[in-house]
Amino acid sequence: MNRLIDGKVISAAVKERVRNGVSELNAKGITVGLAVIIVGEDPASKVYVANKKKACEALGIISEEYALPENTTQEELLNLIKELNAKKSINGILCQLPLPRHLDEKLIINSILPEKDVDAFHPVNVGKIMIGDYDFVPCTPAGVMEMLKYENIDVEGKTCVVIGRSNIVGKPMGMLLLHKNGTVTICHSRTKNLKEICSSADILVAAVGKANFVTADMVKDGAVVIDVGMNRVDGKLCGDVDFPSVSKKASAITPVPGGVGPMTIAMLMQNTLTAAKRQNNING
Ligand code: GUN
Repeated sequence: MNRLIDGKVISAAVKERVRNGVSELNAKGITVGLAVIIVGEDPASKVYVANKKKACEALGIISEEYALPENTTQEELLNLIKELNAKKSINGILCQLPLPRHLDEKLIINSILPEKDVDAFHPVNVGKIMIGDYDFVPCTPAGVMEMLKYENIDVEGKTCVVIGRSNIVGKPMGMLLLHKNGTVTICHSRTKNLKEICSSADILVAAVGKANFVTADMVKDGAVVIDVGMNRVDGKLCGDVDFPSVSKKASAITPVPGGVGPMTIAMLMQNTLTAAKRQNNING
């Protein structure tokens, strides 16, 4: 391995940039606010939401947390979102997923104003990503692109393989690499010859959700390997990539933990700042 791509260092750089951006807005008398909604008691979601709140506080972003009980009705949640859509001091709205089963996730996401949809999950924002004209990008793929940029890894003309086709990671990840002129293949559970396709990648992004799924025989010598996985094995966090074997072949690789994970929150902070700028007609 030549290089370990350190998400802690790169996310700190992004957060510093956001902190400065927030200060500049504050100097103009503009505040930046993020509302985070959580429904129910999912322990992992609670940790994510607490981390988002902490990041806001560190960067001067005002965070409002709405912790709703498990039995919240669809109407109650829609009413809250309606209120937050109209609230001037709130620039971004995030509804932590997954929602309890009795709530219609699609309907809830679609009810968030696209201008305040800092997750970039609303179909308007998804469509904008498709045509390459976007303000918000889902935080995880945005974080991956930021890592490649920071490490001066040029995507143009490269063979890029993304494993996983989720709406949150795989699909937007493919689009972002394509916008940077990568030649992109998105693989999934029905892909034939997965090993051969992965072995052709100059840049390999693993977003499968299966611990140690990517092994050394699936990786080309000198490839850049980005591990989006967040799996728990015996209580221990591990990625989708078998790090000990793959790191010997890769020219650069992200670890888990300390890789893509810290980038996700940093990019959420960036999207929130962008939302505040747009809502106040400030460019940049
Ligand atoms: N649950 C897991 N990841 C995410 C995310 O990025 N955004 C939201 N809203 N919920 C999530």
